[in-house]
Amino acid sequence: MPEYSLSPTGEKFQLPDQKDYLKELERLKMLVNSQRSLKREIVIVMGVGFVGAVMAAVVADAEDSKGNSTKFVIGMQRPSIRSFWKIPLINRGLSPISTEDPEVALMIDRCVNRKKTLTATYTYDALKFADVVIVDVQCDYLKESLGNVRNGQAEMKALEESFEIIATHISPNTLVLIETTVAPGTTEQIAYPIMRKVFRKRRINTDPLLAHSFERVMPGKNYIASIRDFWRVCSGVNEEARSRVIQFLREVINTEKYPLTVLDRPIESETAKIVENSYRATILAFLDEWSHFAEQNGVDLMKVINSIKVRPTHSNIIFPGPGIGGYCLPKDGGLGLWAYRHIHGFEDDIFKITPLAIDINDTRALHVAQLTRDALRNMGRPIASAEILVLGASYREDVGDTRYSGSELIVRRLTEMGAELRVHDPYVLHWWEFEKQDEYPASSHSLKRFFRGQEKLKDLRVEQDLKETLHGMDAVIFAVRHQPYLTLDPDEVVNQAGGPIAVIDCFALLDDAKIRRYFELGCEVKGLGRGHVKRIKDQVREEKEKVLTENVRQGLRLKARNKAQ
Ligand SMILES: NC(=O)c1ccc[n+]([C@@H]2O[C@H](COP(=O)([O-])OP(=O)(O)OC[C@H]3O[C@@H](n4cnc5c(N)ncnc54)[C@H](O)[C@@H]3O)[C@@H](O)[C@H]2O)c1
Repeated sequence: MPEYSLSPTGEKFQLPDQKDYLKELERLKMLVNSQRSLKREIVIVMGVGFVGAVMAAVVADAEDSKGNSTKFVIGMQRPSIRSFWKIPLINRGLSPISTEDPEVALMIDRCVNRKKTLTATYTYDALKFADVVIVDVQCDYLKESLGNVRNGQAEMKALEESFEIIATHISPNTLVLIETTVAPGTTEQIAYPIMRKVFRKRRINTDPLLAHSFERVMPGKNYIASIRDFWRVCSGVNEEARSRVIQFLREVINTEKYPLTVLDRPIESETAKIVENSYRATILAFLDEWSHFAEQNGVDLMKVINSIKVRPTHSNIIFPGPGIGGYCLPKDGGLGLWAYRHIHGFEDDIFKITPLAIDINDTRALHVAQLTRDALRNMGRPIASAEILVLGASYREDVGDTRYSGSELIVRRLTEMGAELRVHDPYVLHWWEFEKQDEYPASSHSLKRFFRGQEKLKDLRVEQDLKETLHGMDAVIFAVRHQPYLTLDPDEVVNQAGGPIAVIDCFALLDDAKIRRYFELGCEVKGLGRGHVKRIKDQVREEKEKVLTENVRQGLRLKARNKAQ
């Protein structure tokens, strides 16, 4: 039986069979020959996911000072059921990623269809044509329990397999650039020995030219710029690898404006990535306790943060949303902890702040379920069987990436509490974490395993018509600061819902005027870190009482006057 890979828009692509591989290799050979005659370097990007697909386009778009393309890029992707569809899509010039940055789609189209500097394939044989291989496959960290990062392990399998496959196919002087975020020590202590061993088996006596330079991709409006026009750190296992990686990065990214930082050893650039993301996770986690403080003491954390931000020394303080998601921040610190013990062999426990920060971030979203429960209770509605709409499935604003989003935990906890959930997200067509919760990200990885009563969530679909979806809701949770949600008018929301609702603001989307209006319309409002809503509620109630008293007084006066006549 042929197997198929389904694209997010529902298009079916049959996975390749043996004959297809031979034809594909012929296609690549012809392409590579003609590209070499144009003096272009052949670059293979292994793994065309959120990072690899866009990095492949950036490299394919690179030109020399005379405006000539200098690289021909082959994006290479495993022909798995989950990911194969990305290959035919790229080969049509279409982006496999949905993003707010219009440049991503334009660049992929330009490189595939006009410049002809980009193609995608599923065959590892492509590696033998490579002058440079860029590794952008994932390296996951699997947590065994919710809110305890120490209880977990780095999943090295995909990466280790990739190193072996690369070493089996490449020529000895191919530069292998690892961009994957790895446990510090991986390049020198895992990749290097694996590849060297394969080289020796192939009777190659030189050492693999391995380099490391991590990505700082920010999916969203500045996707391309965050790869091409941004500072990079790099390193190599030896002098040759180091000078080759410096040369390569100079040719493909804007190092004139954003100079490279070259570190002595790969473990230093690997550590830089882990520290960078652990730092970010920590400043977010630190605000969780102040968010609770704010809720209990009439303080609006958003205003507090904005007032602090004006100090240049504190300008990177940020409001923590409902859980700190994305692929990187929840796992990267874990890779550091794991490396200390399992790569470097230390037994002592030096890590305190990094795991604590990740644990706080991993469970912050659960508080949203409590706020929703309380808001509904204040309206006399039980959470069990309440109809709740979550606005936003992705982990941050204006992107379609749902990995480890706070919204997933909100949906799971509220479902466990008996609520009926609906979800809307303009950037997400399929929320695979639910639709395929038994196999995605892998059978043992789904967060489903930490909650009860999750079976029906397989049928959860991401709604695209907001007006329609609002109809009949008891509660609306603003979970992500997507552009279309910022301008929603309270009167319209309540009107479409068919009456007063509970409104939960997880990301300070609502200004005070909107919060006030929701209260005036009979809604209940609660928000993460938004203790001042109680003050607005009291003001609205006082004003309503005043109007009521005035109406009663007027009524009495009118009655008295009528009597006197
Ligand atoms: N997504 C981000 O915002 C971001 C930012 C900075 C760094 N990173 C890092 O970049 C790396 C890649 O992340 P991503 O978000 O692109 O992951 P991803 O899961 O979107 O992409 C990885 C791709 O590699 C493919 N793959 C796995 N094994 C393969 C193999 N043997 N051969 C060919 N393809 C293979 C997978 O099918 C998948 O398409 C990770 O280490 C991540 O931590 C990600």
